[in-house]
Amino acid sequence: MLSYRHAFHAGNHADVLKHLAWLGVISHLKRKTKPFVLFDTHAGAGQYALDSEQAMLNREYDSGIARLDDVEPASALLSDYMAIVQPMMEAGIYPGSPGLAARAMRAQDAAHMMELHPAEFPALQSNLASFGSSHGQNGSIHLHHRDGLEGLIAMTPPTPNRGAILIDPPYEVKDEYGQVKTTLTTVLQRWQNAQAVVWYPLLSERAKEKAGLCQEMVQDIAKLGKNCFKAELTVTENTPDAGMYGSGVCIINPAWQLDEHLTQAMKEACLAIGPDARFSLQWLKQEAS
Ligand SMILES: C[S@@+](CC[C@H](N)C(=O)[O-])C[C@H]1O[C@@H](n2cnc3c(N)ncnc32)[C@H](O)[C@@H]1O
Repeated sequence: MLSYRHAFHAGNHADVLKHLAWLGVISHLKRKTKPFVLFDTHAGAGQYALDSEQAMLNREYDSGIARLDDVEPASALLSDYMAIVQPMMEAGIYPGSPGLAARAMRAQDAAHMMELHPAEFPALQSNLASFGSSHGQNGSIHLHHRDGLEGLIAMTPPTPNRGAILIDPPYEVKDEYGQVKTTLTTVLQRWQNAQAVVWYPLLSERAKEKAGLCQEMVQDIAKLGKNCFKAELTVTENTPDAGMYGSGVCIINPAWQLDEHLTQAMKEACLAIGPDARFSLQWLKQEAS
């Protein structure tokens, strides 16, 4: 089933959390000059025109990134994010995770971005064309028209083995939660120091059997033996018919102080998003290495 199109949701509150987390991971990798390799298993179209029919349908960006328009960021991570996003927003575009990573990477870094949808993949190719596929100012970017979780297993561990993974499935079918955990189990056995960001929706009772699956997945990820924390943004109360009342990211092998940097950025973002926005961060496993 491939019916999900991210253009309908581009720039919403979930994108703000996910993209701040992803940029936070990349920013910490950039603290050393050594190259790194990124994997984006569910890349989407790379960037989104906010005046498209899809984006305009529910204008989800209005209650997400558009609220941050006037913010003068105090935190370094929010400042880095807005430095990429603001000029694009002025052109009516919001970057997807590939667009964000492509702008944050350096010449020595590499990225593998995977997308399975037959219409989203050519859009991704077109939207990232200006970054090229071989080593340039923004590193080497490889786009793959394939299943992202299979591709991740096939391409890891990378050389050099310093890098990070973004797993951002549509969760259209409930099996996807289990597939994320199974894939991470395999990947982390072979690539022990991989950092990973797993995005998940927070769903109310209305989602029926899908409602508790993200919590089960997060608990399973915590049992993989790696340090990890979960960070969640809710935008409304979890009433039975709320639908998606927020979202979370589970970050595996996070860099030192990423928790603090994400918290500072998200606290500022919450103030801008609105009075009902709440951010929380909880370590699931934290041991000194
Ligand atoms: C939530 S969107 C990704 C958004 C993107 N990560 C971002 O932040 O801009 C999920 C994407 O996964 C794609 N997709 C669905 N199943 C997939 C699979 N098995 N492998 C790779 N991509 C898949 C969908 O077509 C969709 O574009």
